[in-house]
Amino acid sequence: MDNGGGRTRGILLAGGTGSRLWPATRAVSKQLIPVYDKPMVYYPLATLISSGIREIVIITTPEESGQFQRLLGNGHQWGIELRYAVQPRPEGIAQAFLIAEEFLAGGPAALILGDNLFHGVDLRPFVELCDGLSGGRIFGYPVTDPTAFGVVEFDDLGRVLSIEEKPARPRSRYAVPGFYLYDSEVVPIARAIGRSARGEYEITAVNEEYLRRGALQVTVLGTGTAWLDTGTVADLVRAQEYVRAIDTGQGTKVGCVEEAAWRAGFIDDDQLRELAAPLLRSDYGSYLLRLLHAGDRVGPREQLLTALD
Ligand code: G1P
Repeated sequence: MDNGGGRTRGILLAGGTGSRLWPATRAVSKQLIPVYDKPMVYYPLATLISSGIREIVIITTPEESGQFQRLLGNGHQWGIELRYAVQPRPEGIAQAFLIAEEFLAGGPAALILGDNLFHGVDLRPFVELCDGLSGGRIFGYPVTDPTAFGVVEFDDLGRVLSIEEKPARPRSRYAVPGFYLYDSEVVPIARAIGRSARGEYEITAVNEEYLRRGALQVTVLGTGTAWLDTGTVADLVRAQEYVRAIDTGQGTKVGCVEEAAWRAGFIDDDQLRELAAPLLRSDYGSYLLRLLHAGDRVGPREQLLTALD
């Protein structure tokens, strides 16, 4: 897969043992269990698609790769290209860049974690920047308890001072969500950092290296955006409740891959109708058809602007 054009390619990391959710994830991948009405992996996949990314590699454990392939296929039904790769052991997030080296073909990368759910965030402009620029970009999101995350510290002018992984005493309330954008330097950097004391390729070490080079941008995701990690049972329930509230309250689905592909212009109305057909016994299928009937291709922002005209 040549990447002469230097377009950002996506990596969706869905490995790991999911041990914090055992026994629920003993026999099935964490990223395949449902969050409300769809498998968890749909959410990060829809985020990549909404960001305009069409070439994506899904990294899973060797045992679970077949299940993901059965669920998602080659992506052509959604106008995208899906590849599969395996991470034999859970040896850290940054190992994803080494596993995906050939797929990236010397181009920029967007990495999303398979258990991260974003809503109301338009990441497309950042991905477009990533196509041409050098360096890395990560995000900061305020949380009440940052100790379970990477944490980024800023000075008064908003410049990044430090990034720490799961600090016992966090220096700020800004957690680093699992969506990362890097130039092609990320592969040699991941290789050079090697393994940490706990035997993992740490994503925070990659970010620290970009920071050391003066090549790390951090964008704070503000009010009105949602970022939910589904690592523990409590987080998972919170995510389910969030998705349900939006679904039943607003009649809008979060993490709907088909809708994301349709809005991105990767599939047309007829293709969306075809995708809906086998799903019509569930609300999910009728939702896809409702999108067509509502003539709802414009996003909420455009609708608002039209209404103000
Ligand atoms: C990982 C990263 C952490 C990041 C988090 C986001 O942690 O190591 O820096 O903030 O994902 O979900 P994990 O949840 O895999 O322990």
